Amino acid sequence: MAFLADSLARIKPSATIAVTDRARELKAAGRDIIGLGAGEPDFDTPEHIKEAAIRAIREGKTKYTAIDGIPELKAAIAAKFRRENHIDYKPEEISVGTGGKQVLFNALMATLNPGDEVIIPAPYWVSYPEIVALAGATPVPLKTTIASGFKILPDALDKAITPKTKWLILNSPSNPSGAAYTRAEIGGLTDVLMKHGHVWVLTDDMYEHLVYDGFVFTTPVEVEPALKSRTLTLNGVSKAYAMTGWRIGYGAGPAMLIKAMAKLQSQSTTNPSSISQWAAVEALNGPQDFIPKNAEIFKKRRDLVVSMLNQAKGLSCPRPEGAFYVFPSCAGTIGKTTTGGVKIATDEDFVTALLEEEGVAVVQGSAFGLAPHFRISYATSTELLEEACSRIQRFCAGLR
Ligand SMILES: Cc1ncc(COP(=O)(O)O)c(C=O)c1O
Repeated sequence: MAFLADSLARIKPSATIAVTDRARELKAAGRDIIGLGAGEPDFDTPEHIKEAAIRAIREGKTKYTAIDGIPELKAAIAAKFRRENHIDYKPEEISVGTGGKQVLFNALMATLNPGDEVIIPAPYWVSYPEIVALAGATPVPLKTTIASGFKILPDALDKAITPKTKWLILNSPSNPSGAAYTRAEIGGLTDVLMKHGHVWVLTDDMYEHLVYDGFVFTTPVEVEPALKSRTLTLNGVSKAYAMTGWRIGYGAGPAMLIKAMAKLQSQSTTNPSSISQWAAVEALNGPQDFIPKNAEIFKKRRDLVVSMLNQAKGLSCPRPEGAFYVFPSCAGTIGKTTTGGVKIATDEDFVTALLEEEGVAVVQGSAFGLAPHFRISYATSTELLEEACSRIQRFCAGLR
């Protein structure tokens, strides 16, 4: 009898973490490595948020709390949804977890049975198909193209839906492509969803505040309020507030689902850190002015990276609407040989050779379900981005 669970054999470890680990190893061995693999802002958590956490510790707010969030945080989240998304959620329709990832995990685990299908537009965030598979259900990737701006079209969605479809996972702006859907584009998808009453929508709005050039963020329930009774709107403080390590994410949806998620959480982690919850209250209720300032910095970096990558031989990089990622195609490098003598047959070969020969860590597109591409996180300093892109240009120029 095998000791390890069968369910473990169905999933892969996170590829984004794997590349970060390899880059760390090379760095420890003394190599000059630029890591563009990590999915977190390089900014520090704002002072007023840190102070709120310190205050919480001093005031003894250091005990177990309500499983899925303190009332003060649920109130701050409800106010955020009203203020920014024009949606009303009651406290019993809100769930707070240890990061957006736990909220996602709870929602899928609480609803999926073997045989259920989950439609996941590709390229996708690596965790979606793995959590679906862990739950014993079937991920159904729906591939997009550069030509469609890495967005699914209504027709393709309509065709992908079967009687077994339980969820559609939407992620806008997207990790890894940075693509964000306009209100009209979301409308095209919600029209299709209105025809299929059995399909639930999990919209991952984690990168909501990171949109550029005046792009207006929209979430499905805002466009089609009738979908509210079968939508989980996922968000969190990790990206917009530079709070990845604090581990606070939240979801809002029908009370029946929220209750099921709390039941699951009550038998796993219990409440998210009480101190982090108080910090998140301050993040959501406190000053928001640093968010557009950070977004302006990200926009400049995006423009720099897109322009430099498009000057690299064999690469083609669209200019995404949001997040802090670009997802260039490396199709023009396939079949070539590097100056180090490595033949590039796949995007994985491309990123491995780039790391070994030029010390730049990126993640292969195949990890996100779309090849041959790679993902660059531009959440790092302009100087490092310039140096990394110069190295990528040199690497590509050396291909024969
Ligand atoms: C698309 C997307 N959703 C959710 C998350 C999870 O965020 P958290 O750190 O809050 O768990 C991430 C983190 O990388 C992400 O990229």
